[in-house]
Amino acid sequence: MTSDNVNGQAPKPPKLDKKKYEKELRRLQAELVAMQQWVIETGERVCLIFEGRDAAGKGSAIARITQYLNPRHAKVVALPAPTEREKTQWYFQRYTAHLPAAGEIVIFDRSWYNRAGVERVMGFCGPEEYHRFLRQAPDFERMLVDDGIRIIKYWFSVSAQEQEARFRSRSEDPMRRWKLSPMDVESISRWDDYSRAKDAMFAATDTPWARWHTVESEDKKRSRINVINDILKQIPWQRVEPTEVEIPHRPSGTDDGSLD
Ligand code: ADP
Ligand code: AMP
Ligand code: MLT
Repeated sequence: MTSDNVNGQAPKPPKLDKKKYEKELRRLQAELVAMQQWVIETGERVCLIFEGRDAAGKGSAIARITQYLNPRHAKVVALPAPTEREKTQWYFQRYTAHLPAAGEIVIFDRSWYNRAGVERVMGFCGPEEYHRFLRQAPDFERMLVDDGIRIIKYWFSVSAQEQEARFRSRSEDPMRRWKLSPMDVESISRWDDYSRAKDAMFAATDTPWARWHTVESEDKKRSRINVINDILKQIPWQRVEPTEVEIPHRPSGTDDGSLD
């Protein structure tokens, strides 16, 4: 069986120590806040694409990234399956509507790459649409990059064993059971189809202007730290001085201690 990792059998690196993880995560989250400030000040447009198999850890990594960001300038886009109407539109259309404007960071939790993954494997699109997508995706991204949008693409990589273990733990957890979809269950028996689809996707769409970056995700904590570190490295941001906000003193007599 092929895997995103070497044979899916590679010995697991030791899990990241929880204390160390939490400390490092907080440091990185503070850096992200500073990075966002730079994006806002300079009017940059940032588009982060998160792809990977079901249960690879995209959703929880995205949650850590956005936790302390200003939500007015950071958006997560996780589109549902296309409607009948959307299916008649230009394939990229419903995604372009969400691309960033000046000062915005947009994170796609799955993206136009659905056509190269789930749509290919589950047969939601035909071979012709699929091949057209592989041919056009680099051109589409080239247009965005030429216009000044920064695109960073991440592939979250897990082994078959770890994916299955995560599905099992989701099915037993009332808080996370909603994450387990019929699509996820299918992805167990279609592991090899997804592997082929991923290889074809990388071959066709790993371009100098929009590279794929693989995030080893057997250990979710480590993968979160790694992906945030990478984002901070890929974007050439600088610290900008925060604007001083002076908090005025309340005129005397306006506070009798009661709640309003
Ligand atoms: P997620 O992994 O985002 O929790 P699912 O595993 O249920 O969601 O579905 C995976 C992806 O497949 C989603 O992005 C969804 O929009 C897409 N999808 C589901 N059904 C269809 C369909 N009929 N046509 C196209 N895409 C679909
Ligand atoms: P088929 O060979 O057309 O009967 O396809 C069987 C399943 O594998 C279908 O869900 C196809 O969409 C999927 N499939 C076929 N070829 C590939 C490929 N090269 N990569 C990924 N999935 C594929
Ligand atoms: C993940 O953990 O990779 C995502 O949340 C996607 C999913 O629901 O499987």
